[in-house]
Amino acid sequence: MPLIILASKEFSASYLRGLFITKDTIRIQTPKTGEKEHATPLFLTSSFTYDSAEEMASAFADDTLDINIYSRFSNPTVDEFIDKIVALEGAEAGIATSTGMAAIFSTFMTFLSKGDHIISASAIFGSTHTMLTKYLPKWGIECSYFNMSMPEDIEGLIKANTKMLYLETPSNPGLDIIDIELVAKLCKKNNIMFVVDNCFATPAVQQPIQFGADLVLHSATKFIDGQGRVLGGVVVGKKDLIQPLYLFIRNTGPSLSPFNAWVLSKSLETLFVRMDRHAENALKIAKSLQGHPKISRVKYPFLETHPQYKIAKKQMSNGGGLVTFEIKGGVDAGRKFMNALKMISMTSNLGDSRTIASHPASTTHSKLTEQERNEVGITPGLIRISVGLEHSDDILDDILQALAKS
Ligand SMILES: Cc1ncc(COP(=O)(O)O)c(C=O)c1O
Repeated sequence: MPLIILASKEFSASYLRGLFITKDTIRIQTPKTGEKEHATPLFLTSSFTYDSAEEMASAFADDTLDINIYSRFSNPTVDEFIDKIVALEGAEAGIATSTGMAAIFSTFMTFLSKGDHIISASAIFGSTHTMLTKYLPKWGIECSYFNMSMPEDIEGLIKANTKMLYLETPSNPGLDIIDIELVAKLCKKNNIMFVVDNCFATPAVQQPIQFGADLVLHSATKFIDGQGRVLGGVVVGKKDLIQPLYLFIRNTGPSLSPFNAWVLSKSLETLFVRMDRHAENALKIAKSLQGHPKISRVKYPFLETHPQYKIAKKQMSNGGGLVTFEIKGGVDAGRKFMNALKMISMTSNLGDSRTIASHPASTTHSKLTEQERNEVGITPGLIRISVGLEHSDDILDDILQALAKS
């Protein structure tokens, strides 16, 4: 069950290679049932049965026992998904949630109390920003923001009550990058819990724990699913941090459904090949768009022109699947570009096998003031492309024909 300390222990010898774990998660799987199935089974059940009242009583007696009770607490299919992420991220334990936001909210609620202070990068996903500024203050938790391009400012924000530092790298949607190792050292020195949202990179590209992060979380809805089908989230880290998080989730209910876990777990079998292709396509597109007369700036972590290119090279194995560019002509040109797209989808998700375009200034971030948008790098003509697995020529042709009309 729950405290997925590599719950499927027989796999640990084959997929654990010291602290830095990679590559071998394809065969992490729930032990075969009597049916000898090849693909992993789906335990689509709300609860589990016992052979005696005594056995049932013992399952409830100790929260840390490895006994399934109820799928809000634990489920073998969900455990398999967690095991894989734990192995991929080089963590000790993990817990899954219904969405990425549930992973973030549960982390804040478990480790922050009234009177605490959190420091966060300002360039973060919109709903995380809303959580930090609208909801946490209701419970007496205050937040200070720092600019990701100025990590030297962080130290000045630390107070006696600072409990957590939170960031995304690369950030959504601006693709800002920060040196994880540098921030981790600062957090250790000041006894602050360091939490990284690794959604844009995935563990196939970047493992923040290797650089000193305490907890790593994901919206599994994105590249981990990779085909835009289900919602999910996950948090991994040290066993003693996951235990209270597990209890929070078990008691408050944002658990991952076994069906979604099955889909996500199967997706992880192809994570590395998908991320390689996403990144190969994204780099080609980013390079081809550089210098285009209708574009003032292209941003991609593995382009030498990215302001944090050297840091990206240090901590990422490729540049990931997201590219942004700034169309000359502001919001109007951005809208025209979106309307002219023929193949690329207009939808608010990312990390799909199919390429997706979004225009944050007229959609996800339209409710922010222009000044607020500028502060987090969302300029009027910013276009975010989640580069899919299609042939790169098809993606590029669609972008170029839409640019011609914008
Ligand atoms: C970086 C990042 N974190 C968290 C989330 C939230 O994830 P979910 O939609 O699964 O709740 C998103 C969603 O886009 C995201 O991009």
